Amino acid sequence: MNLADLEYAFNSELQAVKNADELARLKSRYLTNIADARKAIDFSKLGADDKRAFGSGWNALKKHIEDKAKEAAERFGGARSVPQDFDLTLPGLGRNAGAIHPIISTQLEVEDIFRSMGFQVYLGDEAVSEFDNFDAVNIPPDHPARDMQDTFWLENGMVLRTHTSSMQNRAMRELGTPLRAIFPGRCFRNEATDMTHENTFYQLEGMMIDRGITVANLIAVMKELLQNVFRRRIGEEIEGRLRPGFFPFVEPGFELDMKTVLKGQARWIELMPCGMIHPQVLKLGGVDPEKWTGFAFGLGLTRLAMLKYGIQDLRLFNKGDLRFNEQFKATL
Ligand code: PHE
Repeated sequence: MNLADLEYAFNSELQAVKNADELARLKSRYLTNIADARKAIDFSKLGADDKRAFGSGWNALKKHIEDKAKEAAERFGGARSVPQDFDLTLPGLGRNAGAIHPIISTQLEVEDIFRSMGFQVYLGDEAVSEFDNFDAVNIPPDHPARDMQDTFWLENGMVLRTHTSSMQNRAMRELGTPLRAIFPGRCFRNEATDMTHENTFYQLEGMMIDRGITVANLIAVMKELLQNVFRRRIGEEIEGRLRPGFFPFVEPGFELDMKTVLKGQARWIELMPCGMIHPQVLKLGGVDPEKWTGFAFGLGLTRLAMLKYGIQDLRLFNKGDLRFNEQFKATL
């Protein structure tokens, strides 16, 4: 159909329209029709004048359809009609209300628990200096621990942090002592991915420095954390254990494991490396180890979220697949 025919057909159909619904359908059908009419034309075969003539005719018709539809809509009271099976009195379905990602909701929950124990939340950068990520936490250039934390280097010499421990030095310098702070955030390692390893994951680091801090304080704080995250949900005492663990920036260092029961089988899950802050790390942060002691821990937030929600493949977190994300309707 050419534009003139389309205009004629539109005008006559418009006469017959009886309500706003019909009108809306008519308008959208004709807008589609004229779009099709334009697509049907091979512009390469038209001269400049013809092209211009078609263009202005097409625009005029589009405007005509829109204006006439608007005019007619006013006749029908302006408002769009409500379909008969639509109950206006029902509450909204909230389908597109959005939700908080399960890792972030876990992070927010853990932040709250630490705030209640007097810790402040301190955020850092994802791209950090080599010094902050390695040297400041007692991992000199030739230390084998660097191999375990292979990462992504930027051209300007900075690194995508391999752990939130990269915040330790800055926190000591910027916040001073006594110190109670946690640093949640995203970390990166050059890692082959599988169900329990990702190149991008979340940690939540914590430091407590004061006079006379010992391993007893560390255990008390960790217990409080785990009880709060899990007991309310599974209604029983959490079992944890400390094993010796090596990290160059803590001495002594531990691995805190948590007992989980999966399909009736008890398993110990490595959840949180921790330990007493190494004197050298304190010194580099401008803290006198003769006067102050402290502990640090690096909670695997991604792993905690897996335990909390019973998720077995951690790659799901980063996929951005709505079918996964929509199962977690946590909101603030
Ligand atoms: N930064 C360590 C890691 O990512 C974890 C850690 C943090 C260990 C603090 C001890 C104390 O593996």
